[in-house]
Amino acid sequence: MPEVSVDRYAVIGHPVEHSKSPLIHAAFAQQTGQQIEYGKILAPLDGFAATVASLREQGYAGANVTVPFKFEAYALATELTERARVAGAVNTLSFKGSDILGDNTDGVGLVRDIEHNLAVPLAGKRVLLLGAGGAAEGVLGPLLATMPSRLCIANRSVSKAESMVARAKPVDVLLEACSFEALAGQVFDVVINATSSGLSNERLPLTAGLFADGALAYDMVYGRETPFMQYAREEGVRQIADGLGMLVEQAAEAFYLWRQVRPQTAPVMTMMRAL
Ligand code: ATR
Repeated sequence: MPEVSVDRYAVIGHPVEHSKSPLIHAAFAQQTGQQIEYGKILAPLDGFAATVASLREQGYAGANVTVPFKFEAYALATELTERARVAGAVNTLSFKGSDILGDNTDGVGLVRDIEHNLAVPLAGKRVLLLGAGGAAEGVLGPLLATMPSRLCIANRSVSKAESMVARAKPVDVLLEACSFEALAGQVFDVVINATSSGLSNERLPLTAGLFADGALAYDMVYGRETPFMQYAREEGVRQIADGLGMLVEQAAEAFYLWRQVRPQTAPVMTMMRAL
């Protein structure tokens, strides 16, 4: 194994060129005085495990994992944190000798952005989670842990929402699955868009009147005004957020896992918004 003077990390994805993680981790390292290097690695679609093996041989200390490898990372990990086990997916790997520790910081990143940065406590709130794909699965456990009064998962394919509900760890939260159409007449305090519809600029078939007074509309997509955010604006929602805060917070949690130092996220969010 070659000698390395600084600990090396990277984000592995396909595609990965667009990833903001190197910028965010470089800012964290500068702020905290940690000696790290953080790069981007494009893994072939059939070459995730080989890419991880190669990074370990080169002496890398860990990696973030993005689309489409979060499930493969889960399978590859030799040890999992509880939240990664619940999510069924891994976005952060730590290489420790022969062990590969898999964690998932996405859900905690979302919750921290909503509760801390946006100052919206979720306990006792009526929460609507739109989508039942990988992004929604990754955040369900931490959302439930905040003890909303109700959490409804709505998805185009209702069966996927139903199976998320069936797999969830029982907690004292009214947890339901429904179709978009069945949302008519219901009211929520926090609505989180975890579908990928924003990426393709498609509008979800949501009816009017979904938002309670003072509600938060949150889109996990960042860096653009999505049709969901436009819809929330048309509905008169005043607090509308994209997923940049979640991106920075999930990175901060990974940085903490690797370095045992918690960076400040606010200045990094300000920097990212100014790009
Ligand atoms: P991700 O990792 O981003 O969650 P995914 O696992 O492919 O990606 O899941 C995509 C999610 O967005 C799903 O909930 C999908 O709904 P279906 O399960 O019914 O396919 C949802 N989605 C994507 N485009 C959508 C659209 N135009 N309208 C409604 N839902 C959409």
